[in-house]
Amino acid sequence: MDAALADRLRADLLAARYTVDRLRQLWGDEADAALARGDRVPALRAVRDAHDPAALLARLLLLGEPADDTAIARALPTLGAEGARALGLVDAAGRAALDVRPSAAIDASGPVDWLIVSDLGEAQIGGPLPPEHVLGVGGASITLSGLIPTSPVERVLDLGTGCGIQALHAARHARAVVATDISARALELAALTLALNGVTSVELRQGDLFAPVAGERFDRIVSNPPFVITPRADGVPLYEYRDGGRVGDALVEQVIRGAAEHLVPGGTAHLLANWEYRSTMAGDGLARVRRWVEQAGLEAWVVERERQTPAEYAATWIRDGGTRVGTPEYEALAEAWLDDFDARGVHAVGFGYVLLRRPADDRAPRLVRTEVLGSPLPSAPSGIGDHLLTCLAAHDRVASLDDAAFGTLRLAVAPDVTEERHYWPGDDGPTVIRLRQGGGFARTIEADAALAGLVGACDGELTIAAIASALADLLEVDEGALRAQLLPQVRELVLCGMLRVA
Ligand SMILES: C[S@@+](CC[C@H](N)C(=O)[O-])C[C@H]1O[C@@H](n2cnc3c(N)ncnc32)[C@H](O)[C@@H]1O
Repeated sequence: MDAALADRLRADLLAARYTVDRLRQLWGDEADAALARGDRVPALRAVRDAHDPAALLARLLLLGEPADDTAIARALPTLGAEGARALGLVDAAGRAALDVRPSAAIDASGPVDWLIVSDLGEAQIGGPLPPEHVLGVGGASITLSGLIPTSPVERVLDLGTGCGIQALHAARHARAVVATDISARALELAALTLALNGVTSVELRQGDLFAPVAGERFDRIVSNPPFVITPRADGVPLYEYRDGGRVGDALVEQVIRGAAEHLVPGGTAHLLANWEYRSTMAGDGLARVRRWVEQAGLEAWVVERERQTPAEYAATWIRDGGTRVGTPEYEALAEAWLDDFDARGVHAVGFGYVLLRRPADDRAPRLVRTEVLGSPLPSAPSGIGDHLLTCLAAHDRVASLDDAAFGTLRLAVAPDVTEERHYWPGDDGPTVIRLRQGGGFARTIEADAALAGLVGACDGELTIAAIASALADLLEVDEGALRAQLLPQVRELVLCGMLRVA
C-alpha cells in the first residue's frame, strides 16, 4: 500500500465528512435500511444528482456507480483519478474496484467513526462473490465487536482480521495489536483501513491461524474465525472469508487449542464459532466444545445462541455465497453439504459465543460453563465482553467459598435487574415471579416467593445467611432446607451478574 496515496484519500474522506450520519442525512433511513439488505437502489436514487462531497464519494466508493476521470477527481480532489487507480479504488473503466464506507461504533470509551475498506459486495458486482472476497463489516463482525472487552490491556491478537474491523476495536483498548490473516489481499485492505483511520498500533502478519505468532502470548485474543462448515468436494466454492479449509468444525477446535498456547496466564479469548452435533456417544455439540476446552487446560463460558438443522445450515451458507435457491447450482451444493454432514453423522449445528481464559493460577477453581441461551438476544448485542469479564470476576470471588463462607457475603441487586409479577385476577399471591436482567444476556429467571424475597432483601447490608434465616421464619419452613434450596440459586445469580458482592 502506498502510504502517501492513502494519506491523500484520507484527507478527501475527512474533508467530505464521509460518515454514517452524514450519509443517512443524505439518503434517509429507508434507503439506509435497504442498503443493509444489500439493495442499493433507494440510496442511489437519493444521491444520483446530489453535489454534496459525501454524496459524490458514496456514489463512487459505496454504491459502485461508474465515473469518468472528471467525476472521480471531483469526488477525490486531493487523490485524483490517477491516485484512485493506483490505490486500486477504481479500475481502468472508472468502475469501483473496492468498497470504502464509513462505519460507526460505540463502546465503553464512547462513539467512534471509522472508514472501512473491503471488496465489493454482491449488489455492486451484480453476482456471486469470488472465492478471494474480503468481507466488509457484517452482522457477525458487529456481534464479535460486542463480545470484545474494553478494559485496557497490553497486547491483543486479532486472528483472521479481514478488513481490519476487530483490530480497530482492539486498538482502542490495547497498547499493541497483532492482526493476522491467511489472505494477502485481506491484509492489503486491512492496511488501507488502518491508514485511513490513522491507527498505527496494529501490526499485520500473514499466515495460517496461529503460525504468524508462534511462541508469542497475548493478553487478549479476538477472532471471528472462518468457522463455516464446508464440504471438501469438487465444485464447492471455497470462500476464504468464511472457510478455514478444515473438515467439519475442526477449525474451531484448532482455534480453541491454539488459544491455550498463545494466552498469558489470566488472558482471555473471545470468539464466534460453530459446533457440530453428531449421532455418536460423545456427539453432543456443546459437550464436544467442553472437551476441547478441558483438554487445552482452559476455562470457558460457551453460549449457544442458535441451532440449525443440516438443511437450514446448508441453505444459509449457500445463499450467503450468492447462489439462489431452486437453481441447479443450489441443488448440487445442497447435496454436497448434506453428504458431508451425513458422513460424520451430523444432525445439528450450533452457533454461539466462546469466551476462553487461561487460568491465572493452577490451584484456583476452574469454570467451564456451556449453556443454551434461553432468552432471545438482539442480533448484535453490545457490552457482552465486559459483562462476561464481570461474571468471571464474580466466579473468582465466590467459587472457592463453601456454603458457610458464601452465606456470610452481603449482596446487592445489580441495577439492571427488575422483577415482574403476574397474578390471577383477584388473587393476593402471584402465580409467576420473574427476575429480568436488562443488560448482559438479558436473562429471565423464574423465582419462587423465597428466592424473590431473598433477592428483594439484598441491599448490601444483610448477609445471605441472615436473609435466609428471616425468610424461613416468615414462610414457616425449615431453615436448613430453605438454605440448601436457595444457595445454589443465589450462586447462579451472582455468576450471571444479577446479584453483586457488596
Ligand atoms: C469471517 S472473516 C472475519 C473478518 C473480520 N475479522 C470480521 O470480524 O469481520 C474470517 C477471516 O479469516 C481469514 N482466514 C481464512 N482462513 C484462515 C486461516 N486458515 N488462517 C488465518 N486466517 C484465515 C479470512 O481471510 C477472513 O479474513
